[in-house]
Amino acid sequence: MTDTTTRRTVWDLPVLRNFAPPTEPAPDGEAGPALVEQTPWNRPGSQLRTAVGRARRGHYGPALSGAPTTTRQAEILNTATIGAPTGTSGIVTGRDVLSQTSIAHDPVTAYNSIPRTVSSPNVVIVGDVGSGKSAHTKTSYVLRPLLLNKRRAVVFDRKDRGGEGEYSELARRFGAEPIRFTTDGTGTRLNLLDPLIAHGTGGQGQMRLLNVVVRLARDGVALTEWEEEALRAALNRTRADHGDHRVPVLADVLPNLSRVTDLPEYSDLSPAAIDALHHAGLSVRFTLNSLLQDYAGLFDGETSKSVDLTGKLTSFDISQLDEDGPAVPAVMAIGHMWLLGRLRNDRGWATNCIYEEGWHIAAGPSAALARSNQKLSRGLALSNVFVFHKGTDIPDGSPSIAMLQEAQTVHVYRQSLHEDAAWCQRVFGFAPDAAERITQLRDGQRYDKIGSRPEIWVEHIRSPWEIQLTNTDEAFEAVARA
Ligand SMILES: Nc1ncnc2c1ncn2[C@@H]1O[C@H](COP(=O)(O)OP(=O)(O)OP(=O)(O)O)[C@@H](O)[C@H]1O
Ligand SMILES: [Mg+2]
Repeated sequence: MTDTTTRRTVWDLPVLRNFAPPTEPAPDGEAGPALVEQTPWNRPGSQLRTAVGRARRGHYGPALSGAPTTTRQAEILNTATIGAPTGTSGIVTGRDVLSQTSIAHDPVTAYNSIPRTVSSPNVVIVGDVGSGKSAHTKTSYVLRPLLLNKRRAVVFDRKDRGGEGEYSELARRFGAEPIRFTTDGTGTRLNLLDPLIAHGTGGQGQMRLLNVVVRLARDGVALTEWEEEALRAALNRTRADHGDHRVPVLADVLPNLSRVTDLPEYSDLSPAAIDALHHAGLSVRFTLNSLLQDYAGLFDGETSKSVDLTGKLTSFDISQLDEDGPAVPAVMAIGHMWLLGRLRNDRGWATNCIYEEGWHIAAGPSAALARSNQKLSRGLALSNVFVFHKGTDIPDGSPSIAMLQEAQTVHVYRQSLHEDAAWCQRVFGFAPDAAERITQLRDGQRYDKIGSRPEIWVEHIRSPWEIQLTNTDEAFEAVARA
């Protein structure tokens, strides 16, 4: 019988002992050292250093690079652990639904960071009626950024809430009375020929603005070449006549539109051409005349003194203007141009300009105007925030689509109609299956696309104070309480 405890083997020799294989455990009931259980955590493990002896003596013995696939495999095995999709700089704007980590982004901070993480500070917010767009806009683009130094906001406030705009209360909290626009002659005036507009964009900008306003007054129909020529000539003459002594107003342009053909520069035109130019001038005059008549008190005089950036939040309250006419888009277009001029005198601030019903400025006849001012906007640290319901009525290939695609921060709220959701998916470059997911978003949930990164599913979280300031259901809640 062989005795395993006493038999000497080659592994008992001094150096070779180190290389001995583990001893076989003895079957149950047998005594002896072989009964000691072999546990994996007691084994020495694999070699960690390229030169163990050198490393132990404190010399150079680099760590072995481990098997490259291990971490990758671990990632697959732990799919529930998802990293935060954004960094922490900027403003907290919600919570990522998948990882439950906070989402932080601010277009101004992202545009100013080195290197730039967005190439445009503009923002697009799109979604169904009542899906939570304004609640998000008020918190992420007004309340939270205004806590920062040298930040302010201007809003074109479209939604009526108890007889005034929904941002009025916020504006007062920030120390300024909203600037009210009405059509009964008691509200604020905006002058299309305001010197601040020329100051911001030059004579060309003023001409573009007049062109847009005439178009708006004609339900979007563009001016002919003859009409544009007549308008340019009348505008130049008005500016020359007034020199420095009085600020010209729109009413001053009207008589000049009928007298275009007197100008020496047209003396070589044929009688037929003179006739055509005269008619073109008159047709623009008639359009502007009916605009002044229909909106008495809105565009017929110098800009009211109340139009200024007095508080951190300035609200252009357009909630009382009629829904369909040209007044809302015209006030937005003139206000946009006025703002560009005004900001030139007030450098060092970053301004969020919010266009509720922003379709009018981002996609209507004003789109070309806003687009041509993009460079100027950036130079004046202006971040334009366009909020609207859907984009399916914007024709494919129109410059408005390019204008919207330039915005590098996109928030898509629920779009119940599949075609509206598919429009967002296509225009903003979301993943192909996103359209379906966009139709199913709940109130306050959205998809964010920041720069060229994949979209993130975000839920907007408001503090109790913010909920109080941003809920727009009081009219219904008051009925429920009664
Ligand atoms: N983060 C949120 N979580 C839960 N509910 C929300 C959230 N944000 C908004 N809501 C609800 O949705 C309602 C409508 O919100 P909001 O006025 O922001 O919608 P909207 O998209 O701007 O609507 P509209 O198109 O009519 O302007 C709010 O009164 C509130 O009840
Ligand atoms: Mg809203």
